[in-house]
Amino acid sequence: MTHVLVDALIEHFRNTPRDRMARGDFYRINHDFVAAARDQGFNATIEDAARLLEDGVSPSLWAETSRQREATHLALRQVAGMAPETVLDRAILDFLNGSPGDAVRGIGEVQRQGIESFGKYRSMLNRGHDRGLAIWQVMNPFYFLWASLPVARTTPSDRWREDQFNNTPEPTTESTRSANDRMLVEFLRGELGSEFWSTTSVLDCGCGHGHTASLLIDELGVDPSAYSAFDLHEKRVERTRSVALSAASNMSATPAGASIDDRFFPLDILADDAPKRIQALGEVDVVFSTSFTNVFDDTQLPLILKRMTLPKPKVIVDISVTTSWGFCIGRIDPSAAYRAAGYQLRVSRLETPALEANETHRLWMPQRYWSNRNILIYEKIPGSDDRDLGKQLGA
Ligand SMILES: C[S@@+](CC[C@H](N)C(=O)[O-])C[C@H]1O[C@@H](n2cnc3c(N)ncnc32)[C@H](O)[C@@H]1O
Repeated sequence: MTHVLVDALIEHFRNTPRDRMARGDFYRINHDFVAAARDQGFNATIEDAARLLEDGVSPSLWAETSRQREATHLALRQVAGMAPETVLDRAILDFLNGSPGDAVRGIGEVQRQGIESFGKYRSMLNRGHDRGLAIWQVMNPFYFLWASLPVARTTPSDRWREDQFNNTPEPTTESTRSANDRMLVEFLRGELGSEFWSTTSVLDCGCGHGHTASLLIDELGVDPSAYSAFDLHEKRVERTRSVALSAASNMSATPAGASIDDRFFPLDILADDAPKRIQALGEVDVVFSTSFTNVFDDTQLPLILKRMTLPKPKVIVDISVTTSWGFCIGRIDPSAAYRAAGYQLRVSRLETPALEANETHRLWMPQRYWSNRNILIYEKIPGSDDRDLGKQLGA
């Protein structure tokens, strides 16, 4: 028997035209699957997932996605044919041959049996629509369903309510850092040097709950008194302030310079007074943004970059996801918008998406989004503003 929540989803998929759904709907779908798995365990839920794809989604969708995502399908076929052979290869071929339900059942075997030789499924796609995603992400048939839905590019910033992204941050110690966090720190240190980070001033835009603050201060050695941050939500700013202050007390350094309230402030970057409030910080060396430019659509991005660059940073670090869903606009390469703001790409690095040992359900379950992040470092184009021009002219 199908779980009652999944039954409702099957009805929803049967009866709602695809152009009336959006990727954001996957928040509910993911939520219902997690609830179903809690009630009845993974085995029954894997079967339900297979039924949703067989009974709720028309076979023509799978034919359509194979036309639209030829490069991805080709990569899947290549990986399935590579040594070492595993239980997942049959599942990938089932999907490619138009049987997504069987693919989910096959992938679900990993939940029961585990798998030793997972390495080849970690390879990343380097071209096509799904560039930057890993094979393990795109072999989930739900990924294609998600990708086929409208992105919902409707003023996403209007949706950044207090209750969104309001998860309590994990304690952040060296041992709890994710592999991606460690890679990010190494990359930033390697690219700009340890000395650079310990002597630089940083403005963190859309700081959230202080995750970036902790990475910058605790791992990269940024001086807490040289770190400033804003976010739309006051509670997130407070949280970030306490992360920075506790780092400062651990280092027995007292934040100096501009007053604390001036350096940690709630701000809607779209608001009319935003330029004045950002300029009040004076100049900073680095503007940092993690999953922040993703909040804004293409019409808003030029204004956002203009405001983010008011403190005349030498460097901008933009850590951005590459795929889009309800509140998030993914971009593979936003360099044109940065160039218009006077900054050129210095280096970029796609992160390898991580799959932890206890997360095998992510291989077959519908997710809220399929993301990957690109680390982009921009630097000022010489002569791109009056100040530089003045310097060149000896002013
Ligand atoms: C995806 S979260 C990223 C948070 C944090 N940088 C991180 O990576 O953990 C985006 C953040 O941007 C903030 N935000 C959204 N719209 C904003 C706006 N108009 N002005 C300032 N911050 C905004 C949100 O409140 C949220 O904390």
